[in-house]
Amino acid sequence: MPQTDVIIIGSGIAALSAAYHLRHKQVTVITKSSWSKSNSMLAQGGIAVAIEKRDSWKNHFEDTLVAGCFHNHAENVEHLVQAGPSEISEWCQRGMTFDCDKDGQFLLGKEGAHRRNRIIHAGGDATGKAVTHFLYQATKSSVTMIENEMVTDLIVEDGDCFGVYTKNEEGKIRRYLASKTIIASGGCGAVYGHTSNADVITGDGIAMAYRAGAEITDMEFIQFHPTMLHIQGRSVGLISEAVRGEGARLINQKNEPFMKNRHHQGDLAPRDVVSRGIFDEMKKGNKVFLDISMIANFSTRFPTISNMCKQYGIDLKAGLIPVAPGMHFLMGGIRTDDKGETNITNLFAIGEAACTGVHGANRLASNSLLEGLVFGKRVANHLLSLRFEQPVMFVDYPEATKEVAEMTNWPTKNQIQEIMTNYVGIERTEAELVYAVNWFGSFQKQNSFWDINVNKFTIEQIEIINIFTNGWIIASSALKRTESRGGHFRLDFPESDDQNWRQKQLIRTKEEMF
Ligand code: SIN
Repeated sequence: MPQTDVIIIGSGIAALSAAYHLRHKQVTVITKSSWSKSNSMLAQGGIAVAIEKRDSWKNHFEDTLVAGCFHNHAENVEHLVQAGPSEISEWCQRGMTFDCDKDGQFLLGKEGAHRRNRIIHAGGDATGKAVTHFLYQATKSSVTMIENEMVTDLIVEDGDCFGVYTKNEEGKIRRYLASKTIIASGGCGAVYGHTSNADVITGDGIAMAYRAGAEITDMEFIQFHPTMLHIQGRSVGLISEAVRGEGARLINQKNEPFMKNRHHQGDLAPRDVVSRGIFDEMKKGNKVFLDISMIANFSTRFPTISNMCKQYGIDLKAGLIPVAPGMHFLMGGIRTDDKGETNITNLFAIGEAACTGVHGANRLASNSLLEGLVFGKRVANHLLSLRFEQPVMFVDYPEATKEVAEMTNWPTKNQIQEIMTNYVGIERTEAELVYAVNWFGSFQKQNSFWDINVNKFTIEQIEIINIFTNGWIIASSALKRTESRGGHFRLDFPESDDQNWRQKQLIRTKEEMF
């Protein structure tokens, strides 16, 4: 049975940042596809850091809180934005590069809800790819990287985590024991049909933590990115907010700049506001476009986006890109403290899988890669201050089995996505949420999804269990929160209710009654 000091589940920026700082320990990174399949790799815009002369961490802090609708954990935000400049400077000293002008100064982009230009970027619009590749190169020789093996469940006994179960494509099950386990497997994009997320992002880490008894929080806050490329009713890829930062405008087919009167920041309002603006236009039967005609050298500044548009037959010279909102980011996740600790001993979480509260009810643009770098390092440093015991199993686990169970009367992935899009989407009402919760409840009663041995199922089936689990927590949390805030908008409670809800977190555990 393989044994290691630390298991890291996932291979995005948070995972690799932690792996880098733990490189003097025995680290095993386990990822269900290839190491390069992650949301981090797809991140376009960049990394928000207050490095410009007239900027300050306090400005960045305030912008993060305003975008997050003051639901944020202020101390964790302070740490994030204060650590940003030195974090980037350390990585640059190790050889990481970002786009610079001819004098070697960072080119600073702008994105929604930032009052200053503070987004550093690489390869134009390929920041995530550049940073993830760099971290991988810096880390790969000192960690064991296991690819194409899905972590199916955590091994937890009496509130203590001892490692994980995995399954590979041939159905072979393994157990890995570790002194410490870090979940860094990202959010849950696949809960919705239209998403900017990589298709491997099926909420696995959150679902397995929930099954193991971890506290999950803030799941009602879903960020819909306003501008995904919209082709024949499908959202097929991200059009970075940095495009609006360079001057692009949102218009409908009547050439009306509809964001102008909706918010003082217009097209660069916080994402939840812009997504609802576009959604309203679409409800009126309007089509929505990004007018990019004013951006000189579009394909040099945005090569990834230009290639994607060309691939879908969009003529960039015509200056219009059809867009619609899509699920982009989960503000909630596995509840952790500022050092990544969960309520389960020796289990930690970082990145989008975790909820430290830094993003509040709506993440500020380009704060997620920063979070991955800063909190990856923070959890690693915390682990290095702890004792590493050999994992001791107090319970004799039955050998995992290769048996494959039949799925009877389960929802399909498409059905879950349809329910979530139609009833737990950008706008929500009590009636719709009750419908969704009852729909999930009817399946849960028959199958008890959080108490089954998932190892009996195929990888595709386990993904459905995980998507189902995330969907249910999102829908039931959205029903409980009777106000609107950031990525949670209730048509029947359209205002924020500061008296009853400001900074109040809904903490969900599997012990609750369904
Ligand atoms: C974007 O480039 O618009 C996405 C970046 C982010 O999610 O912060």
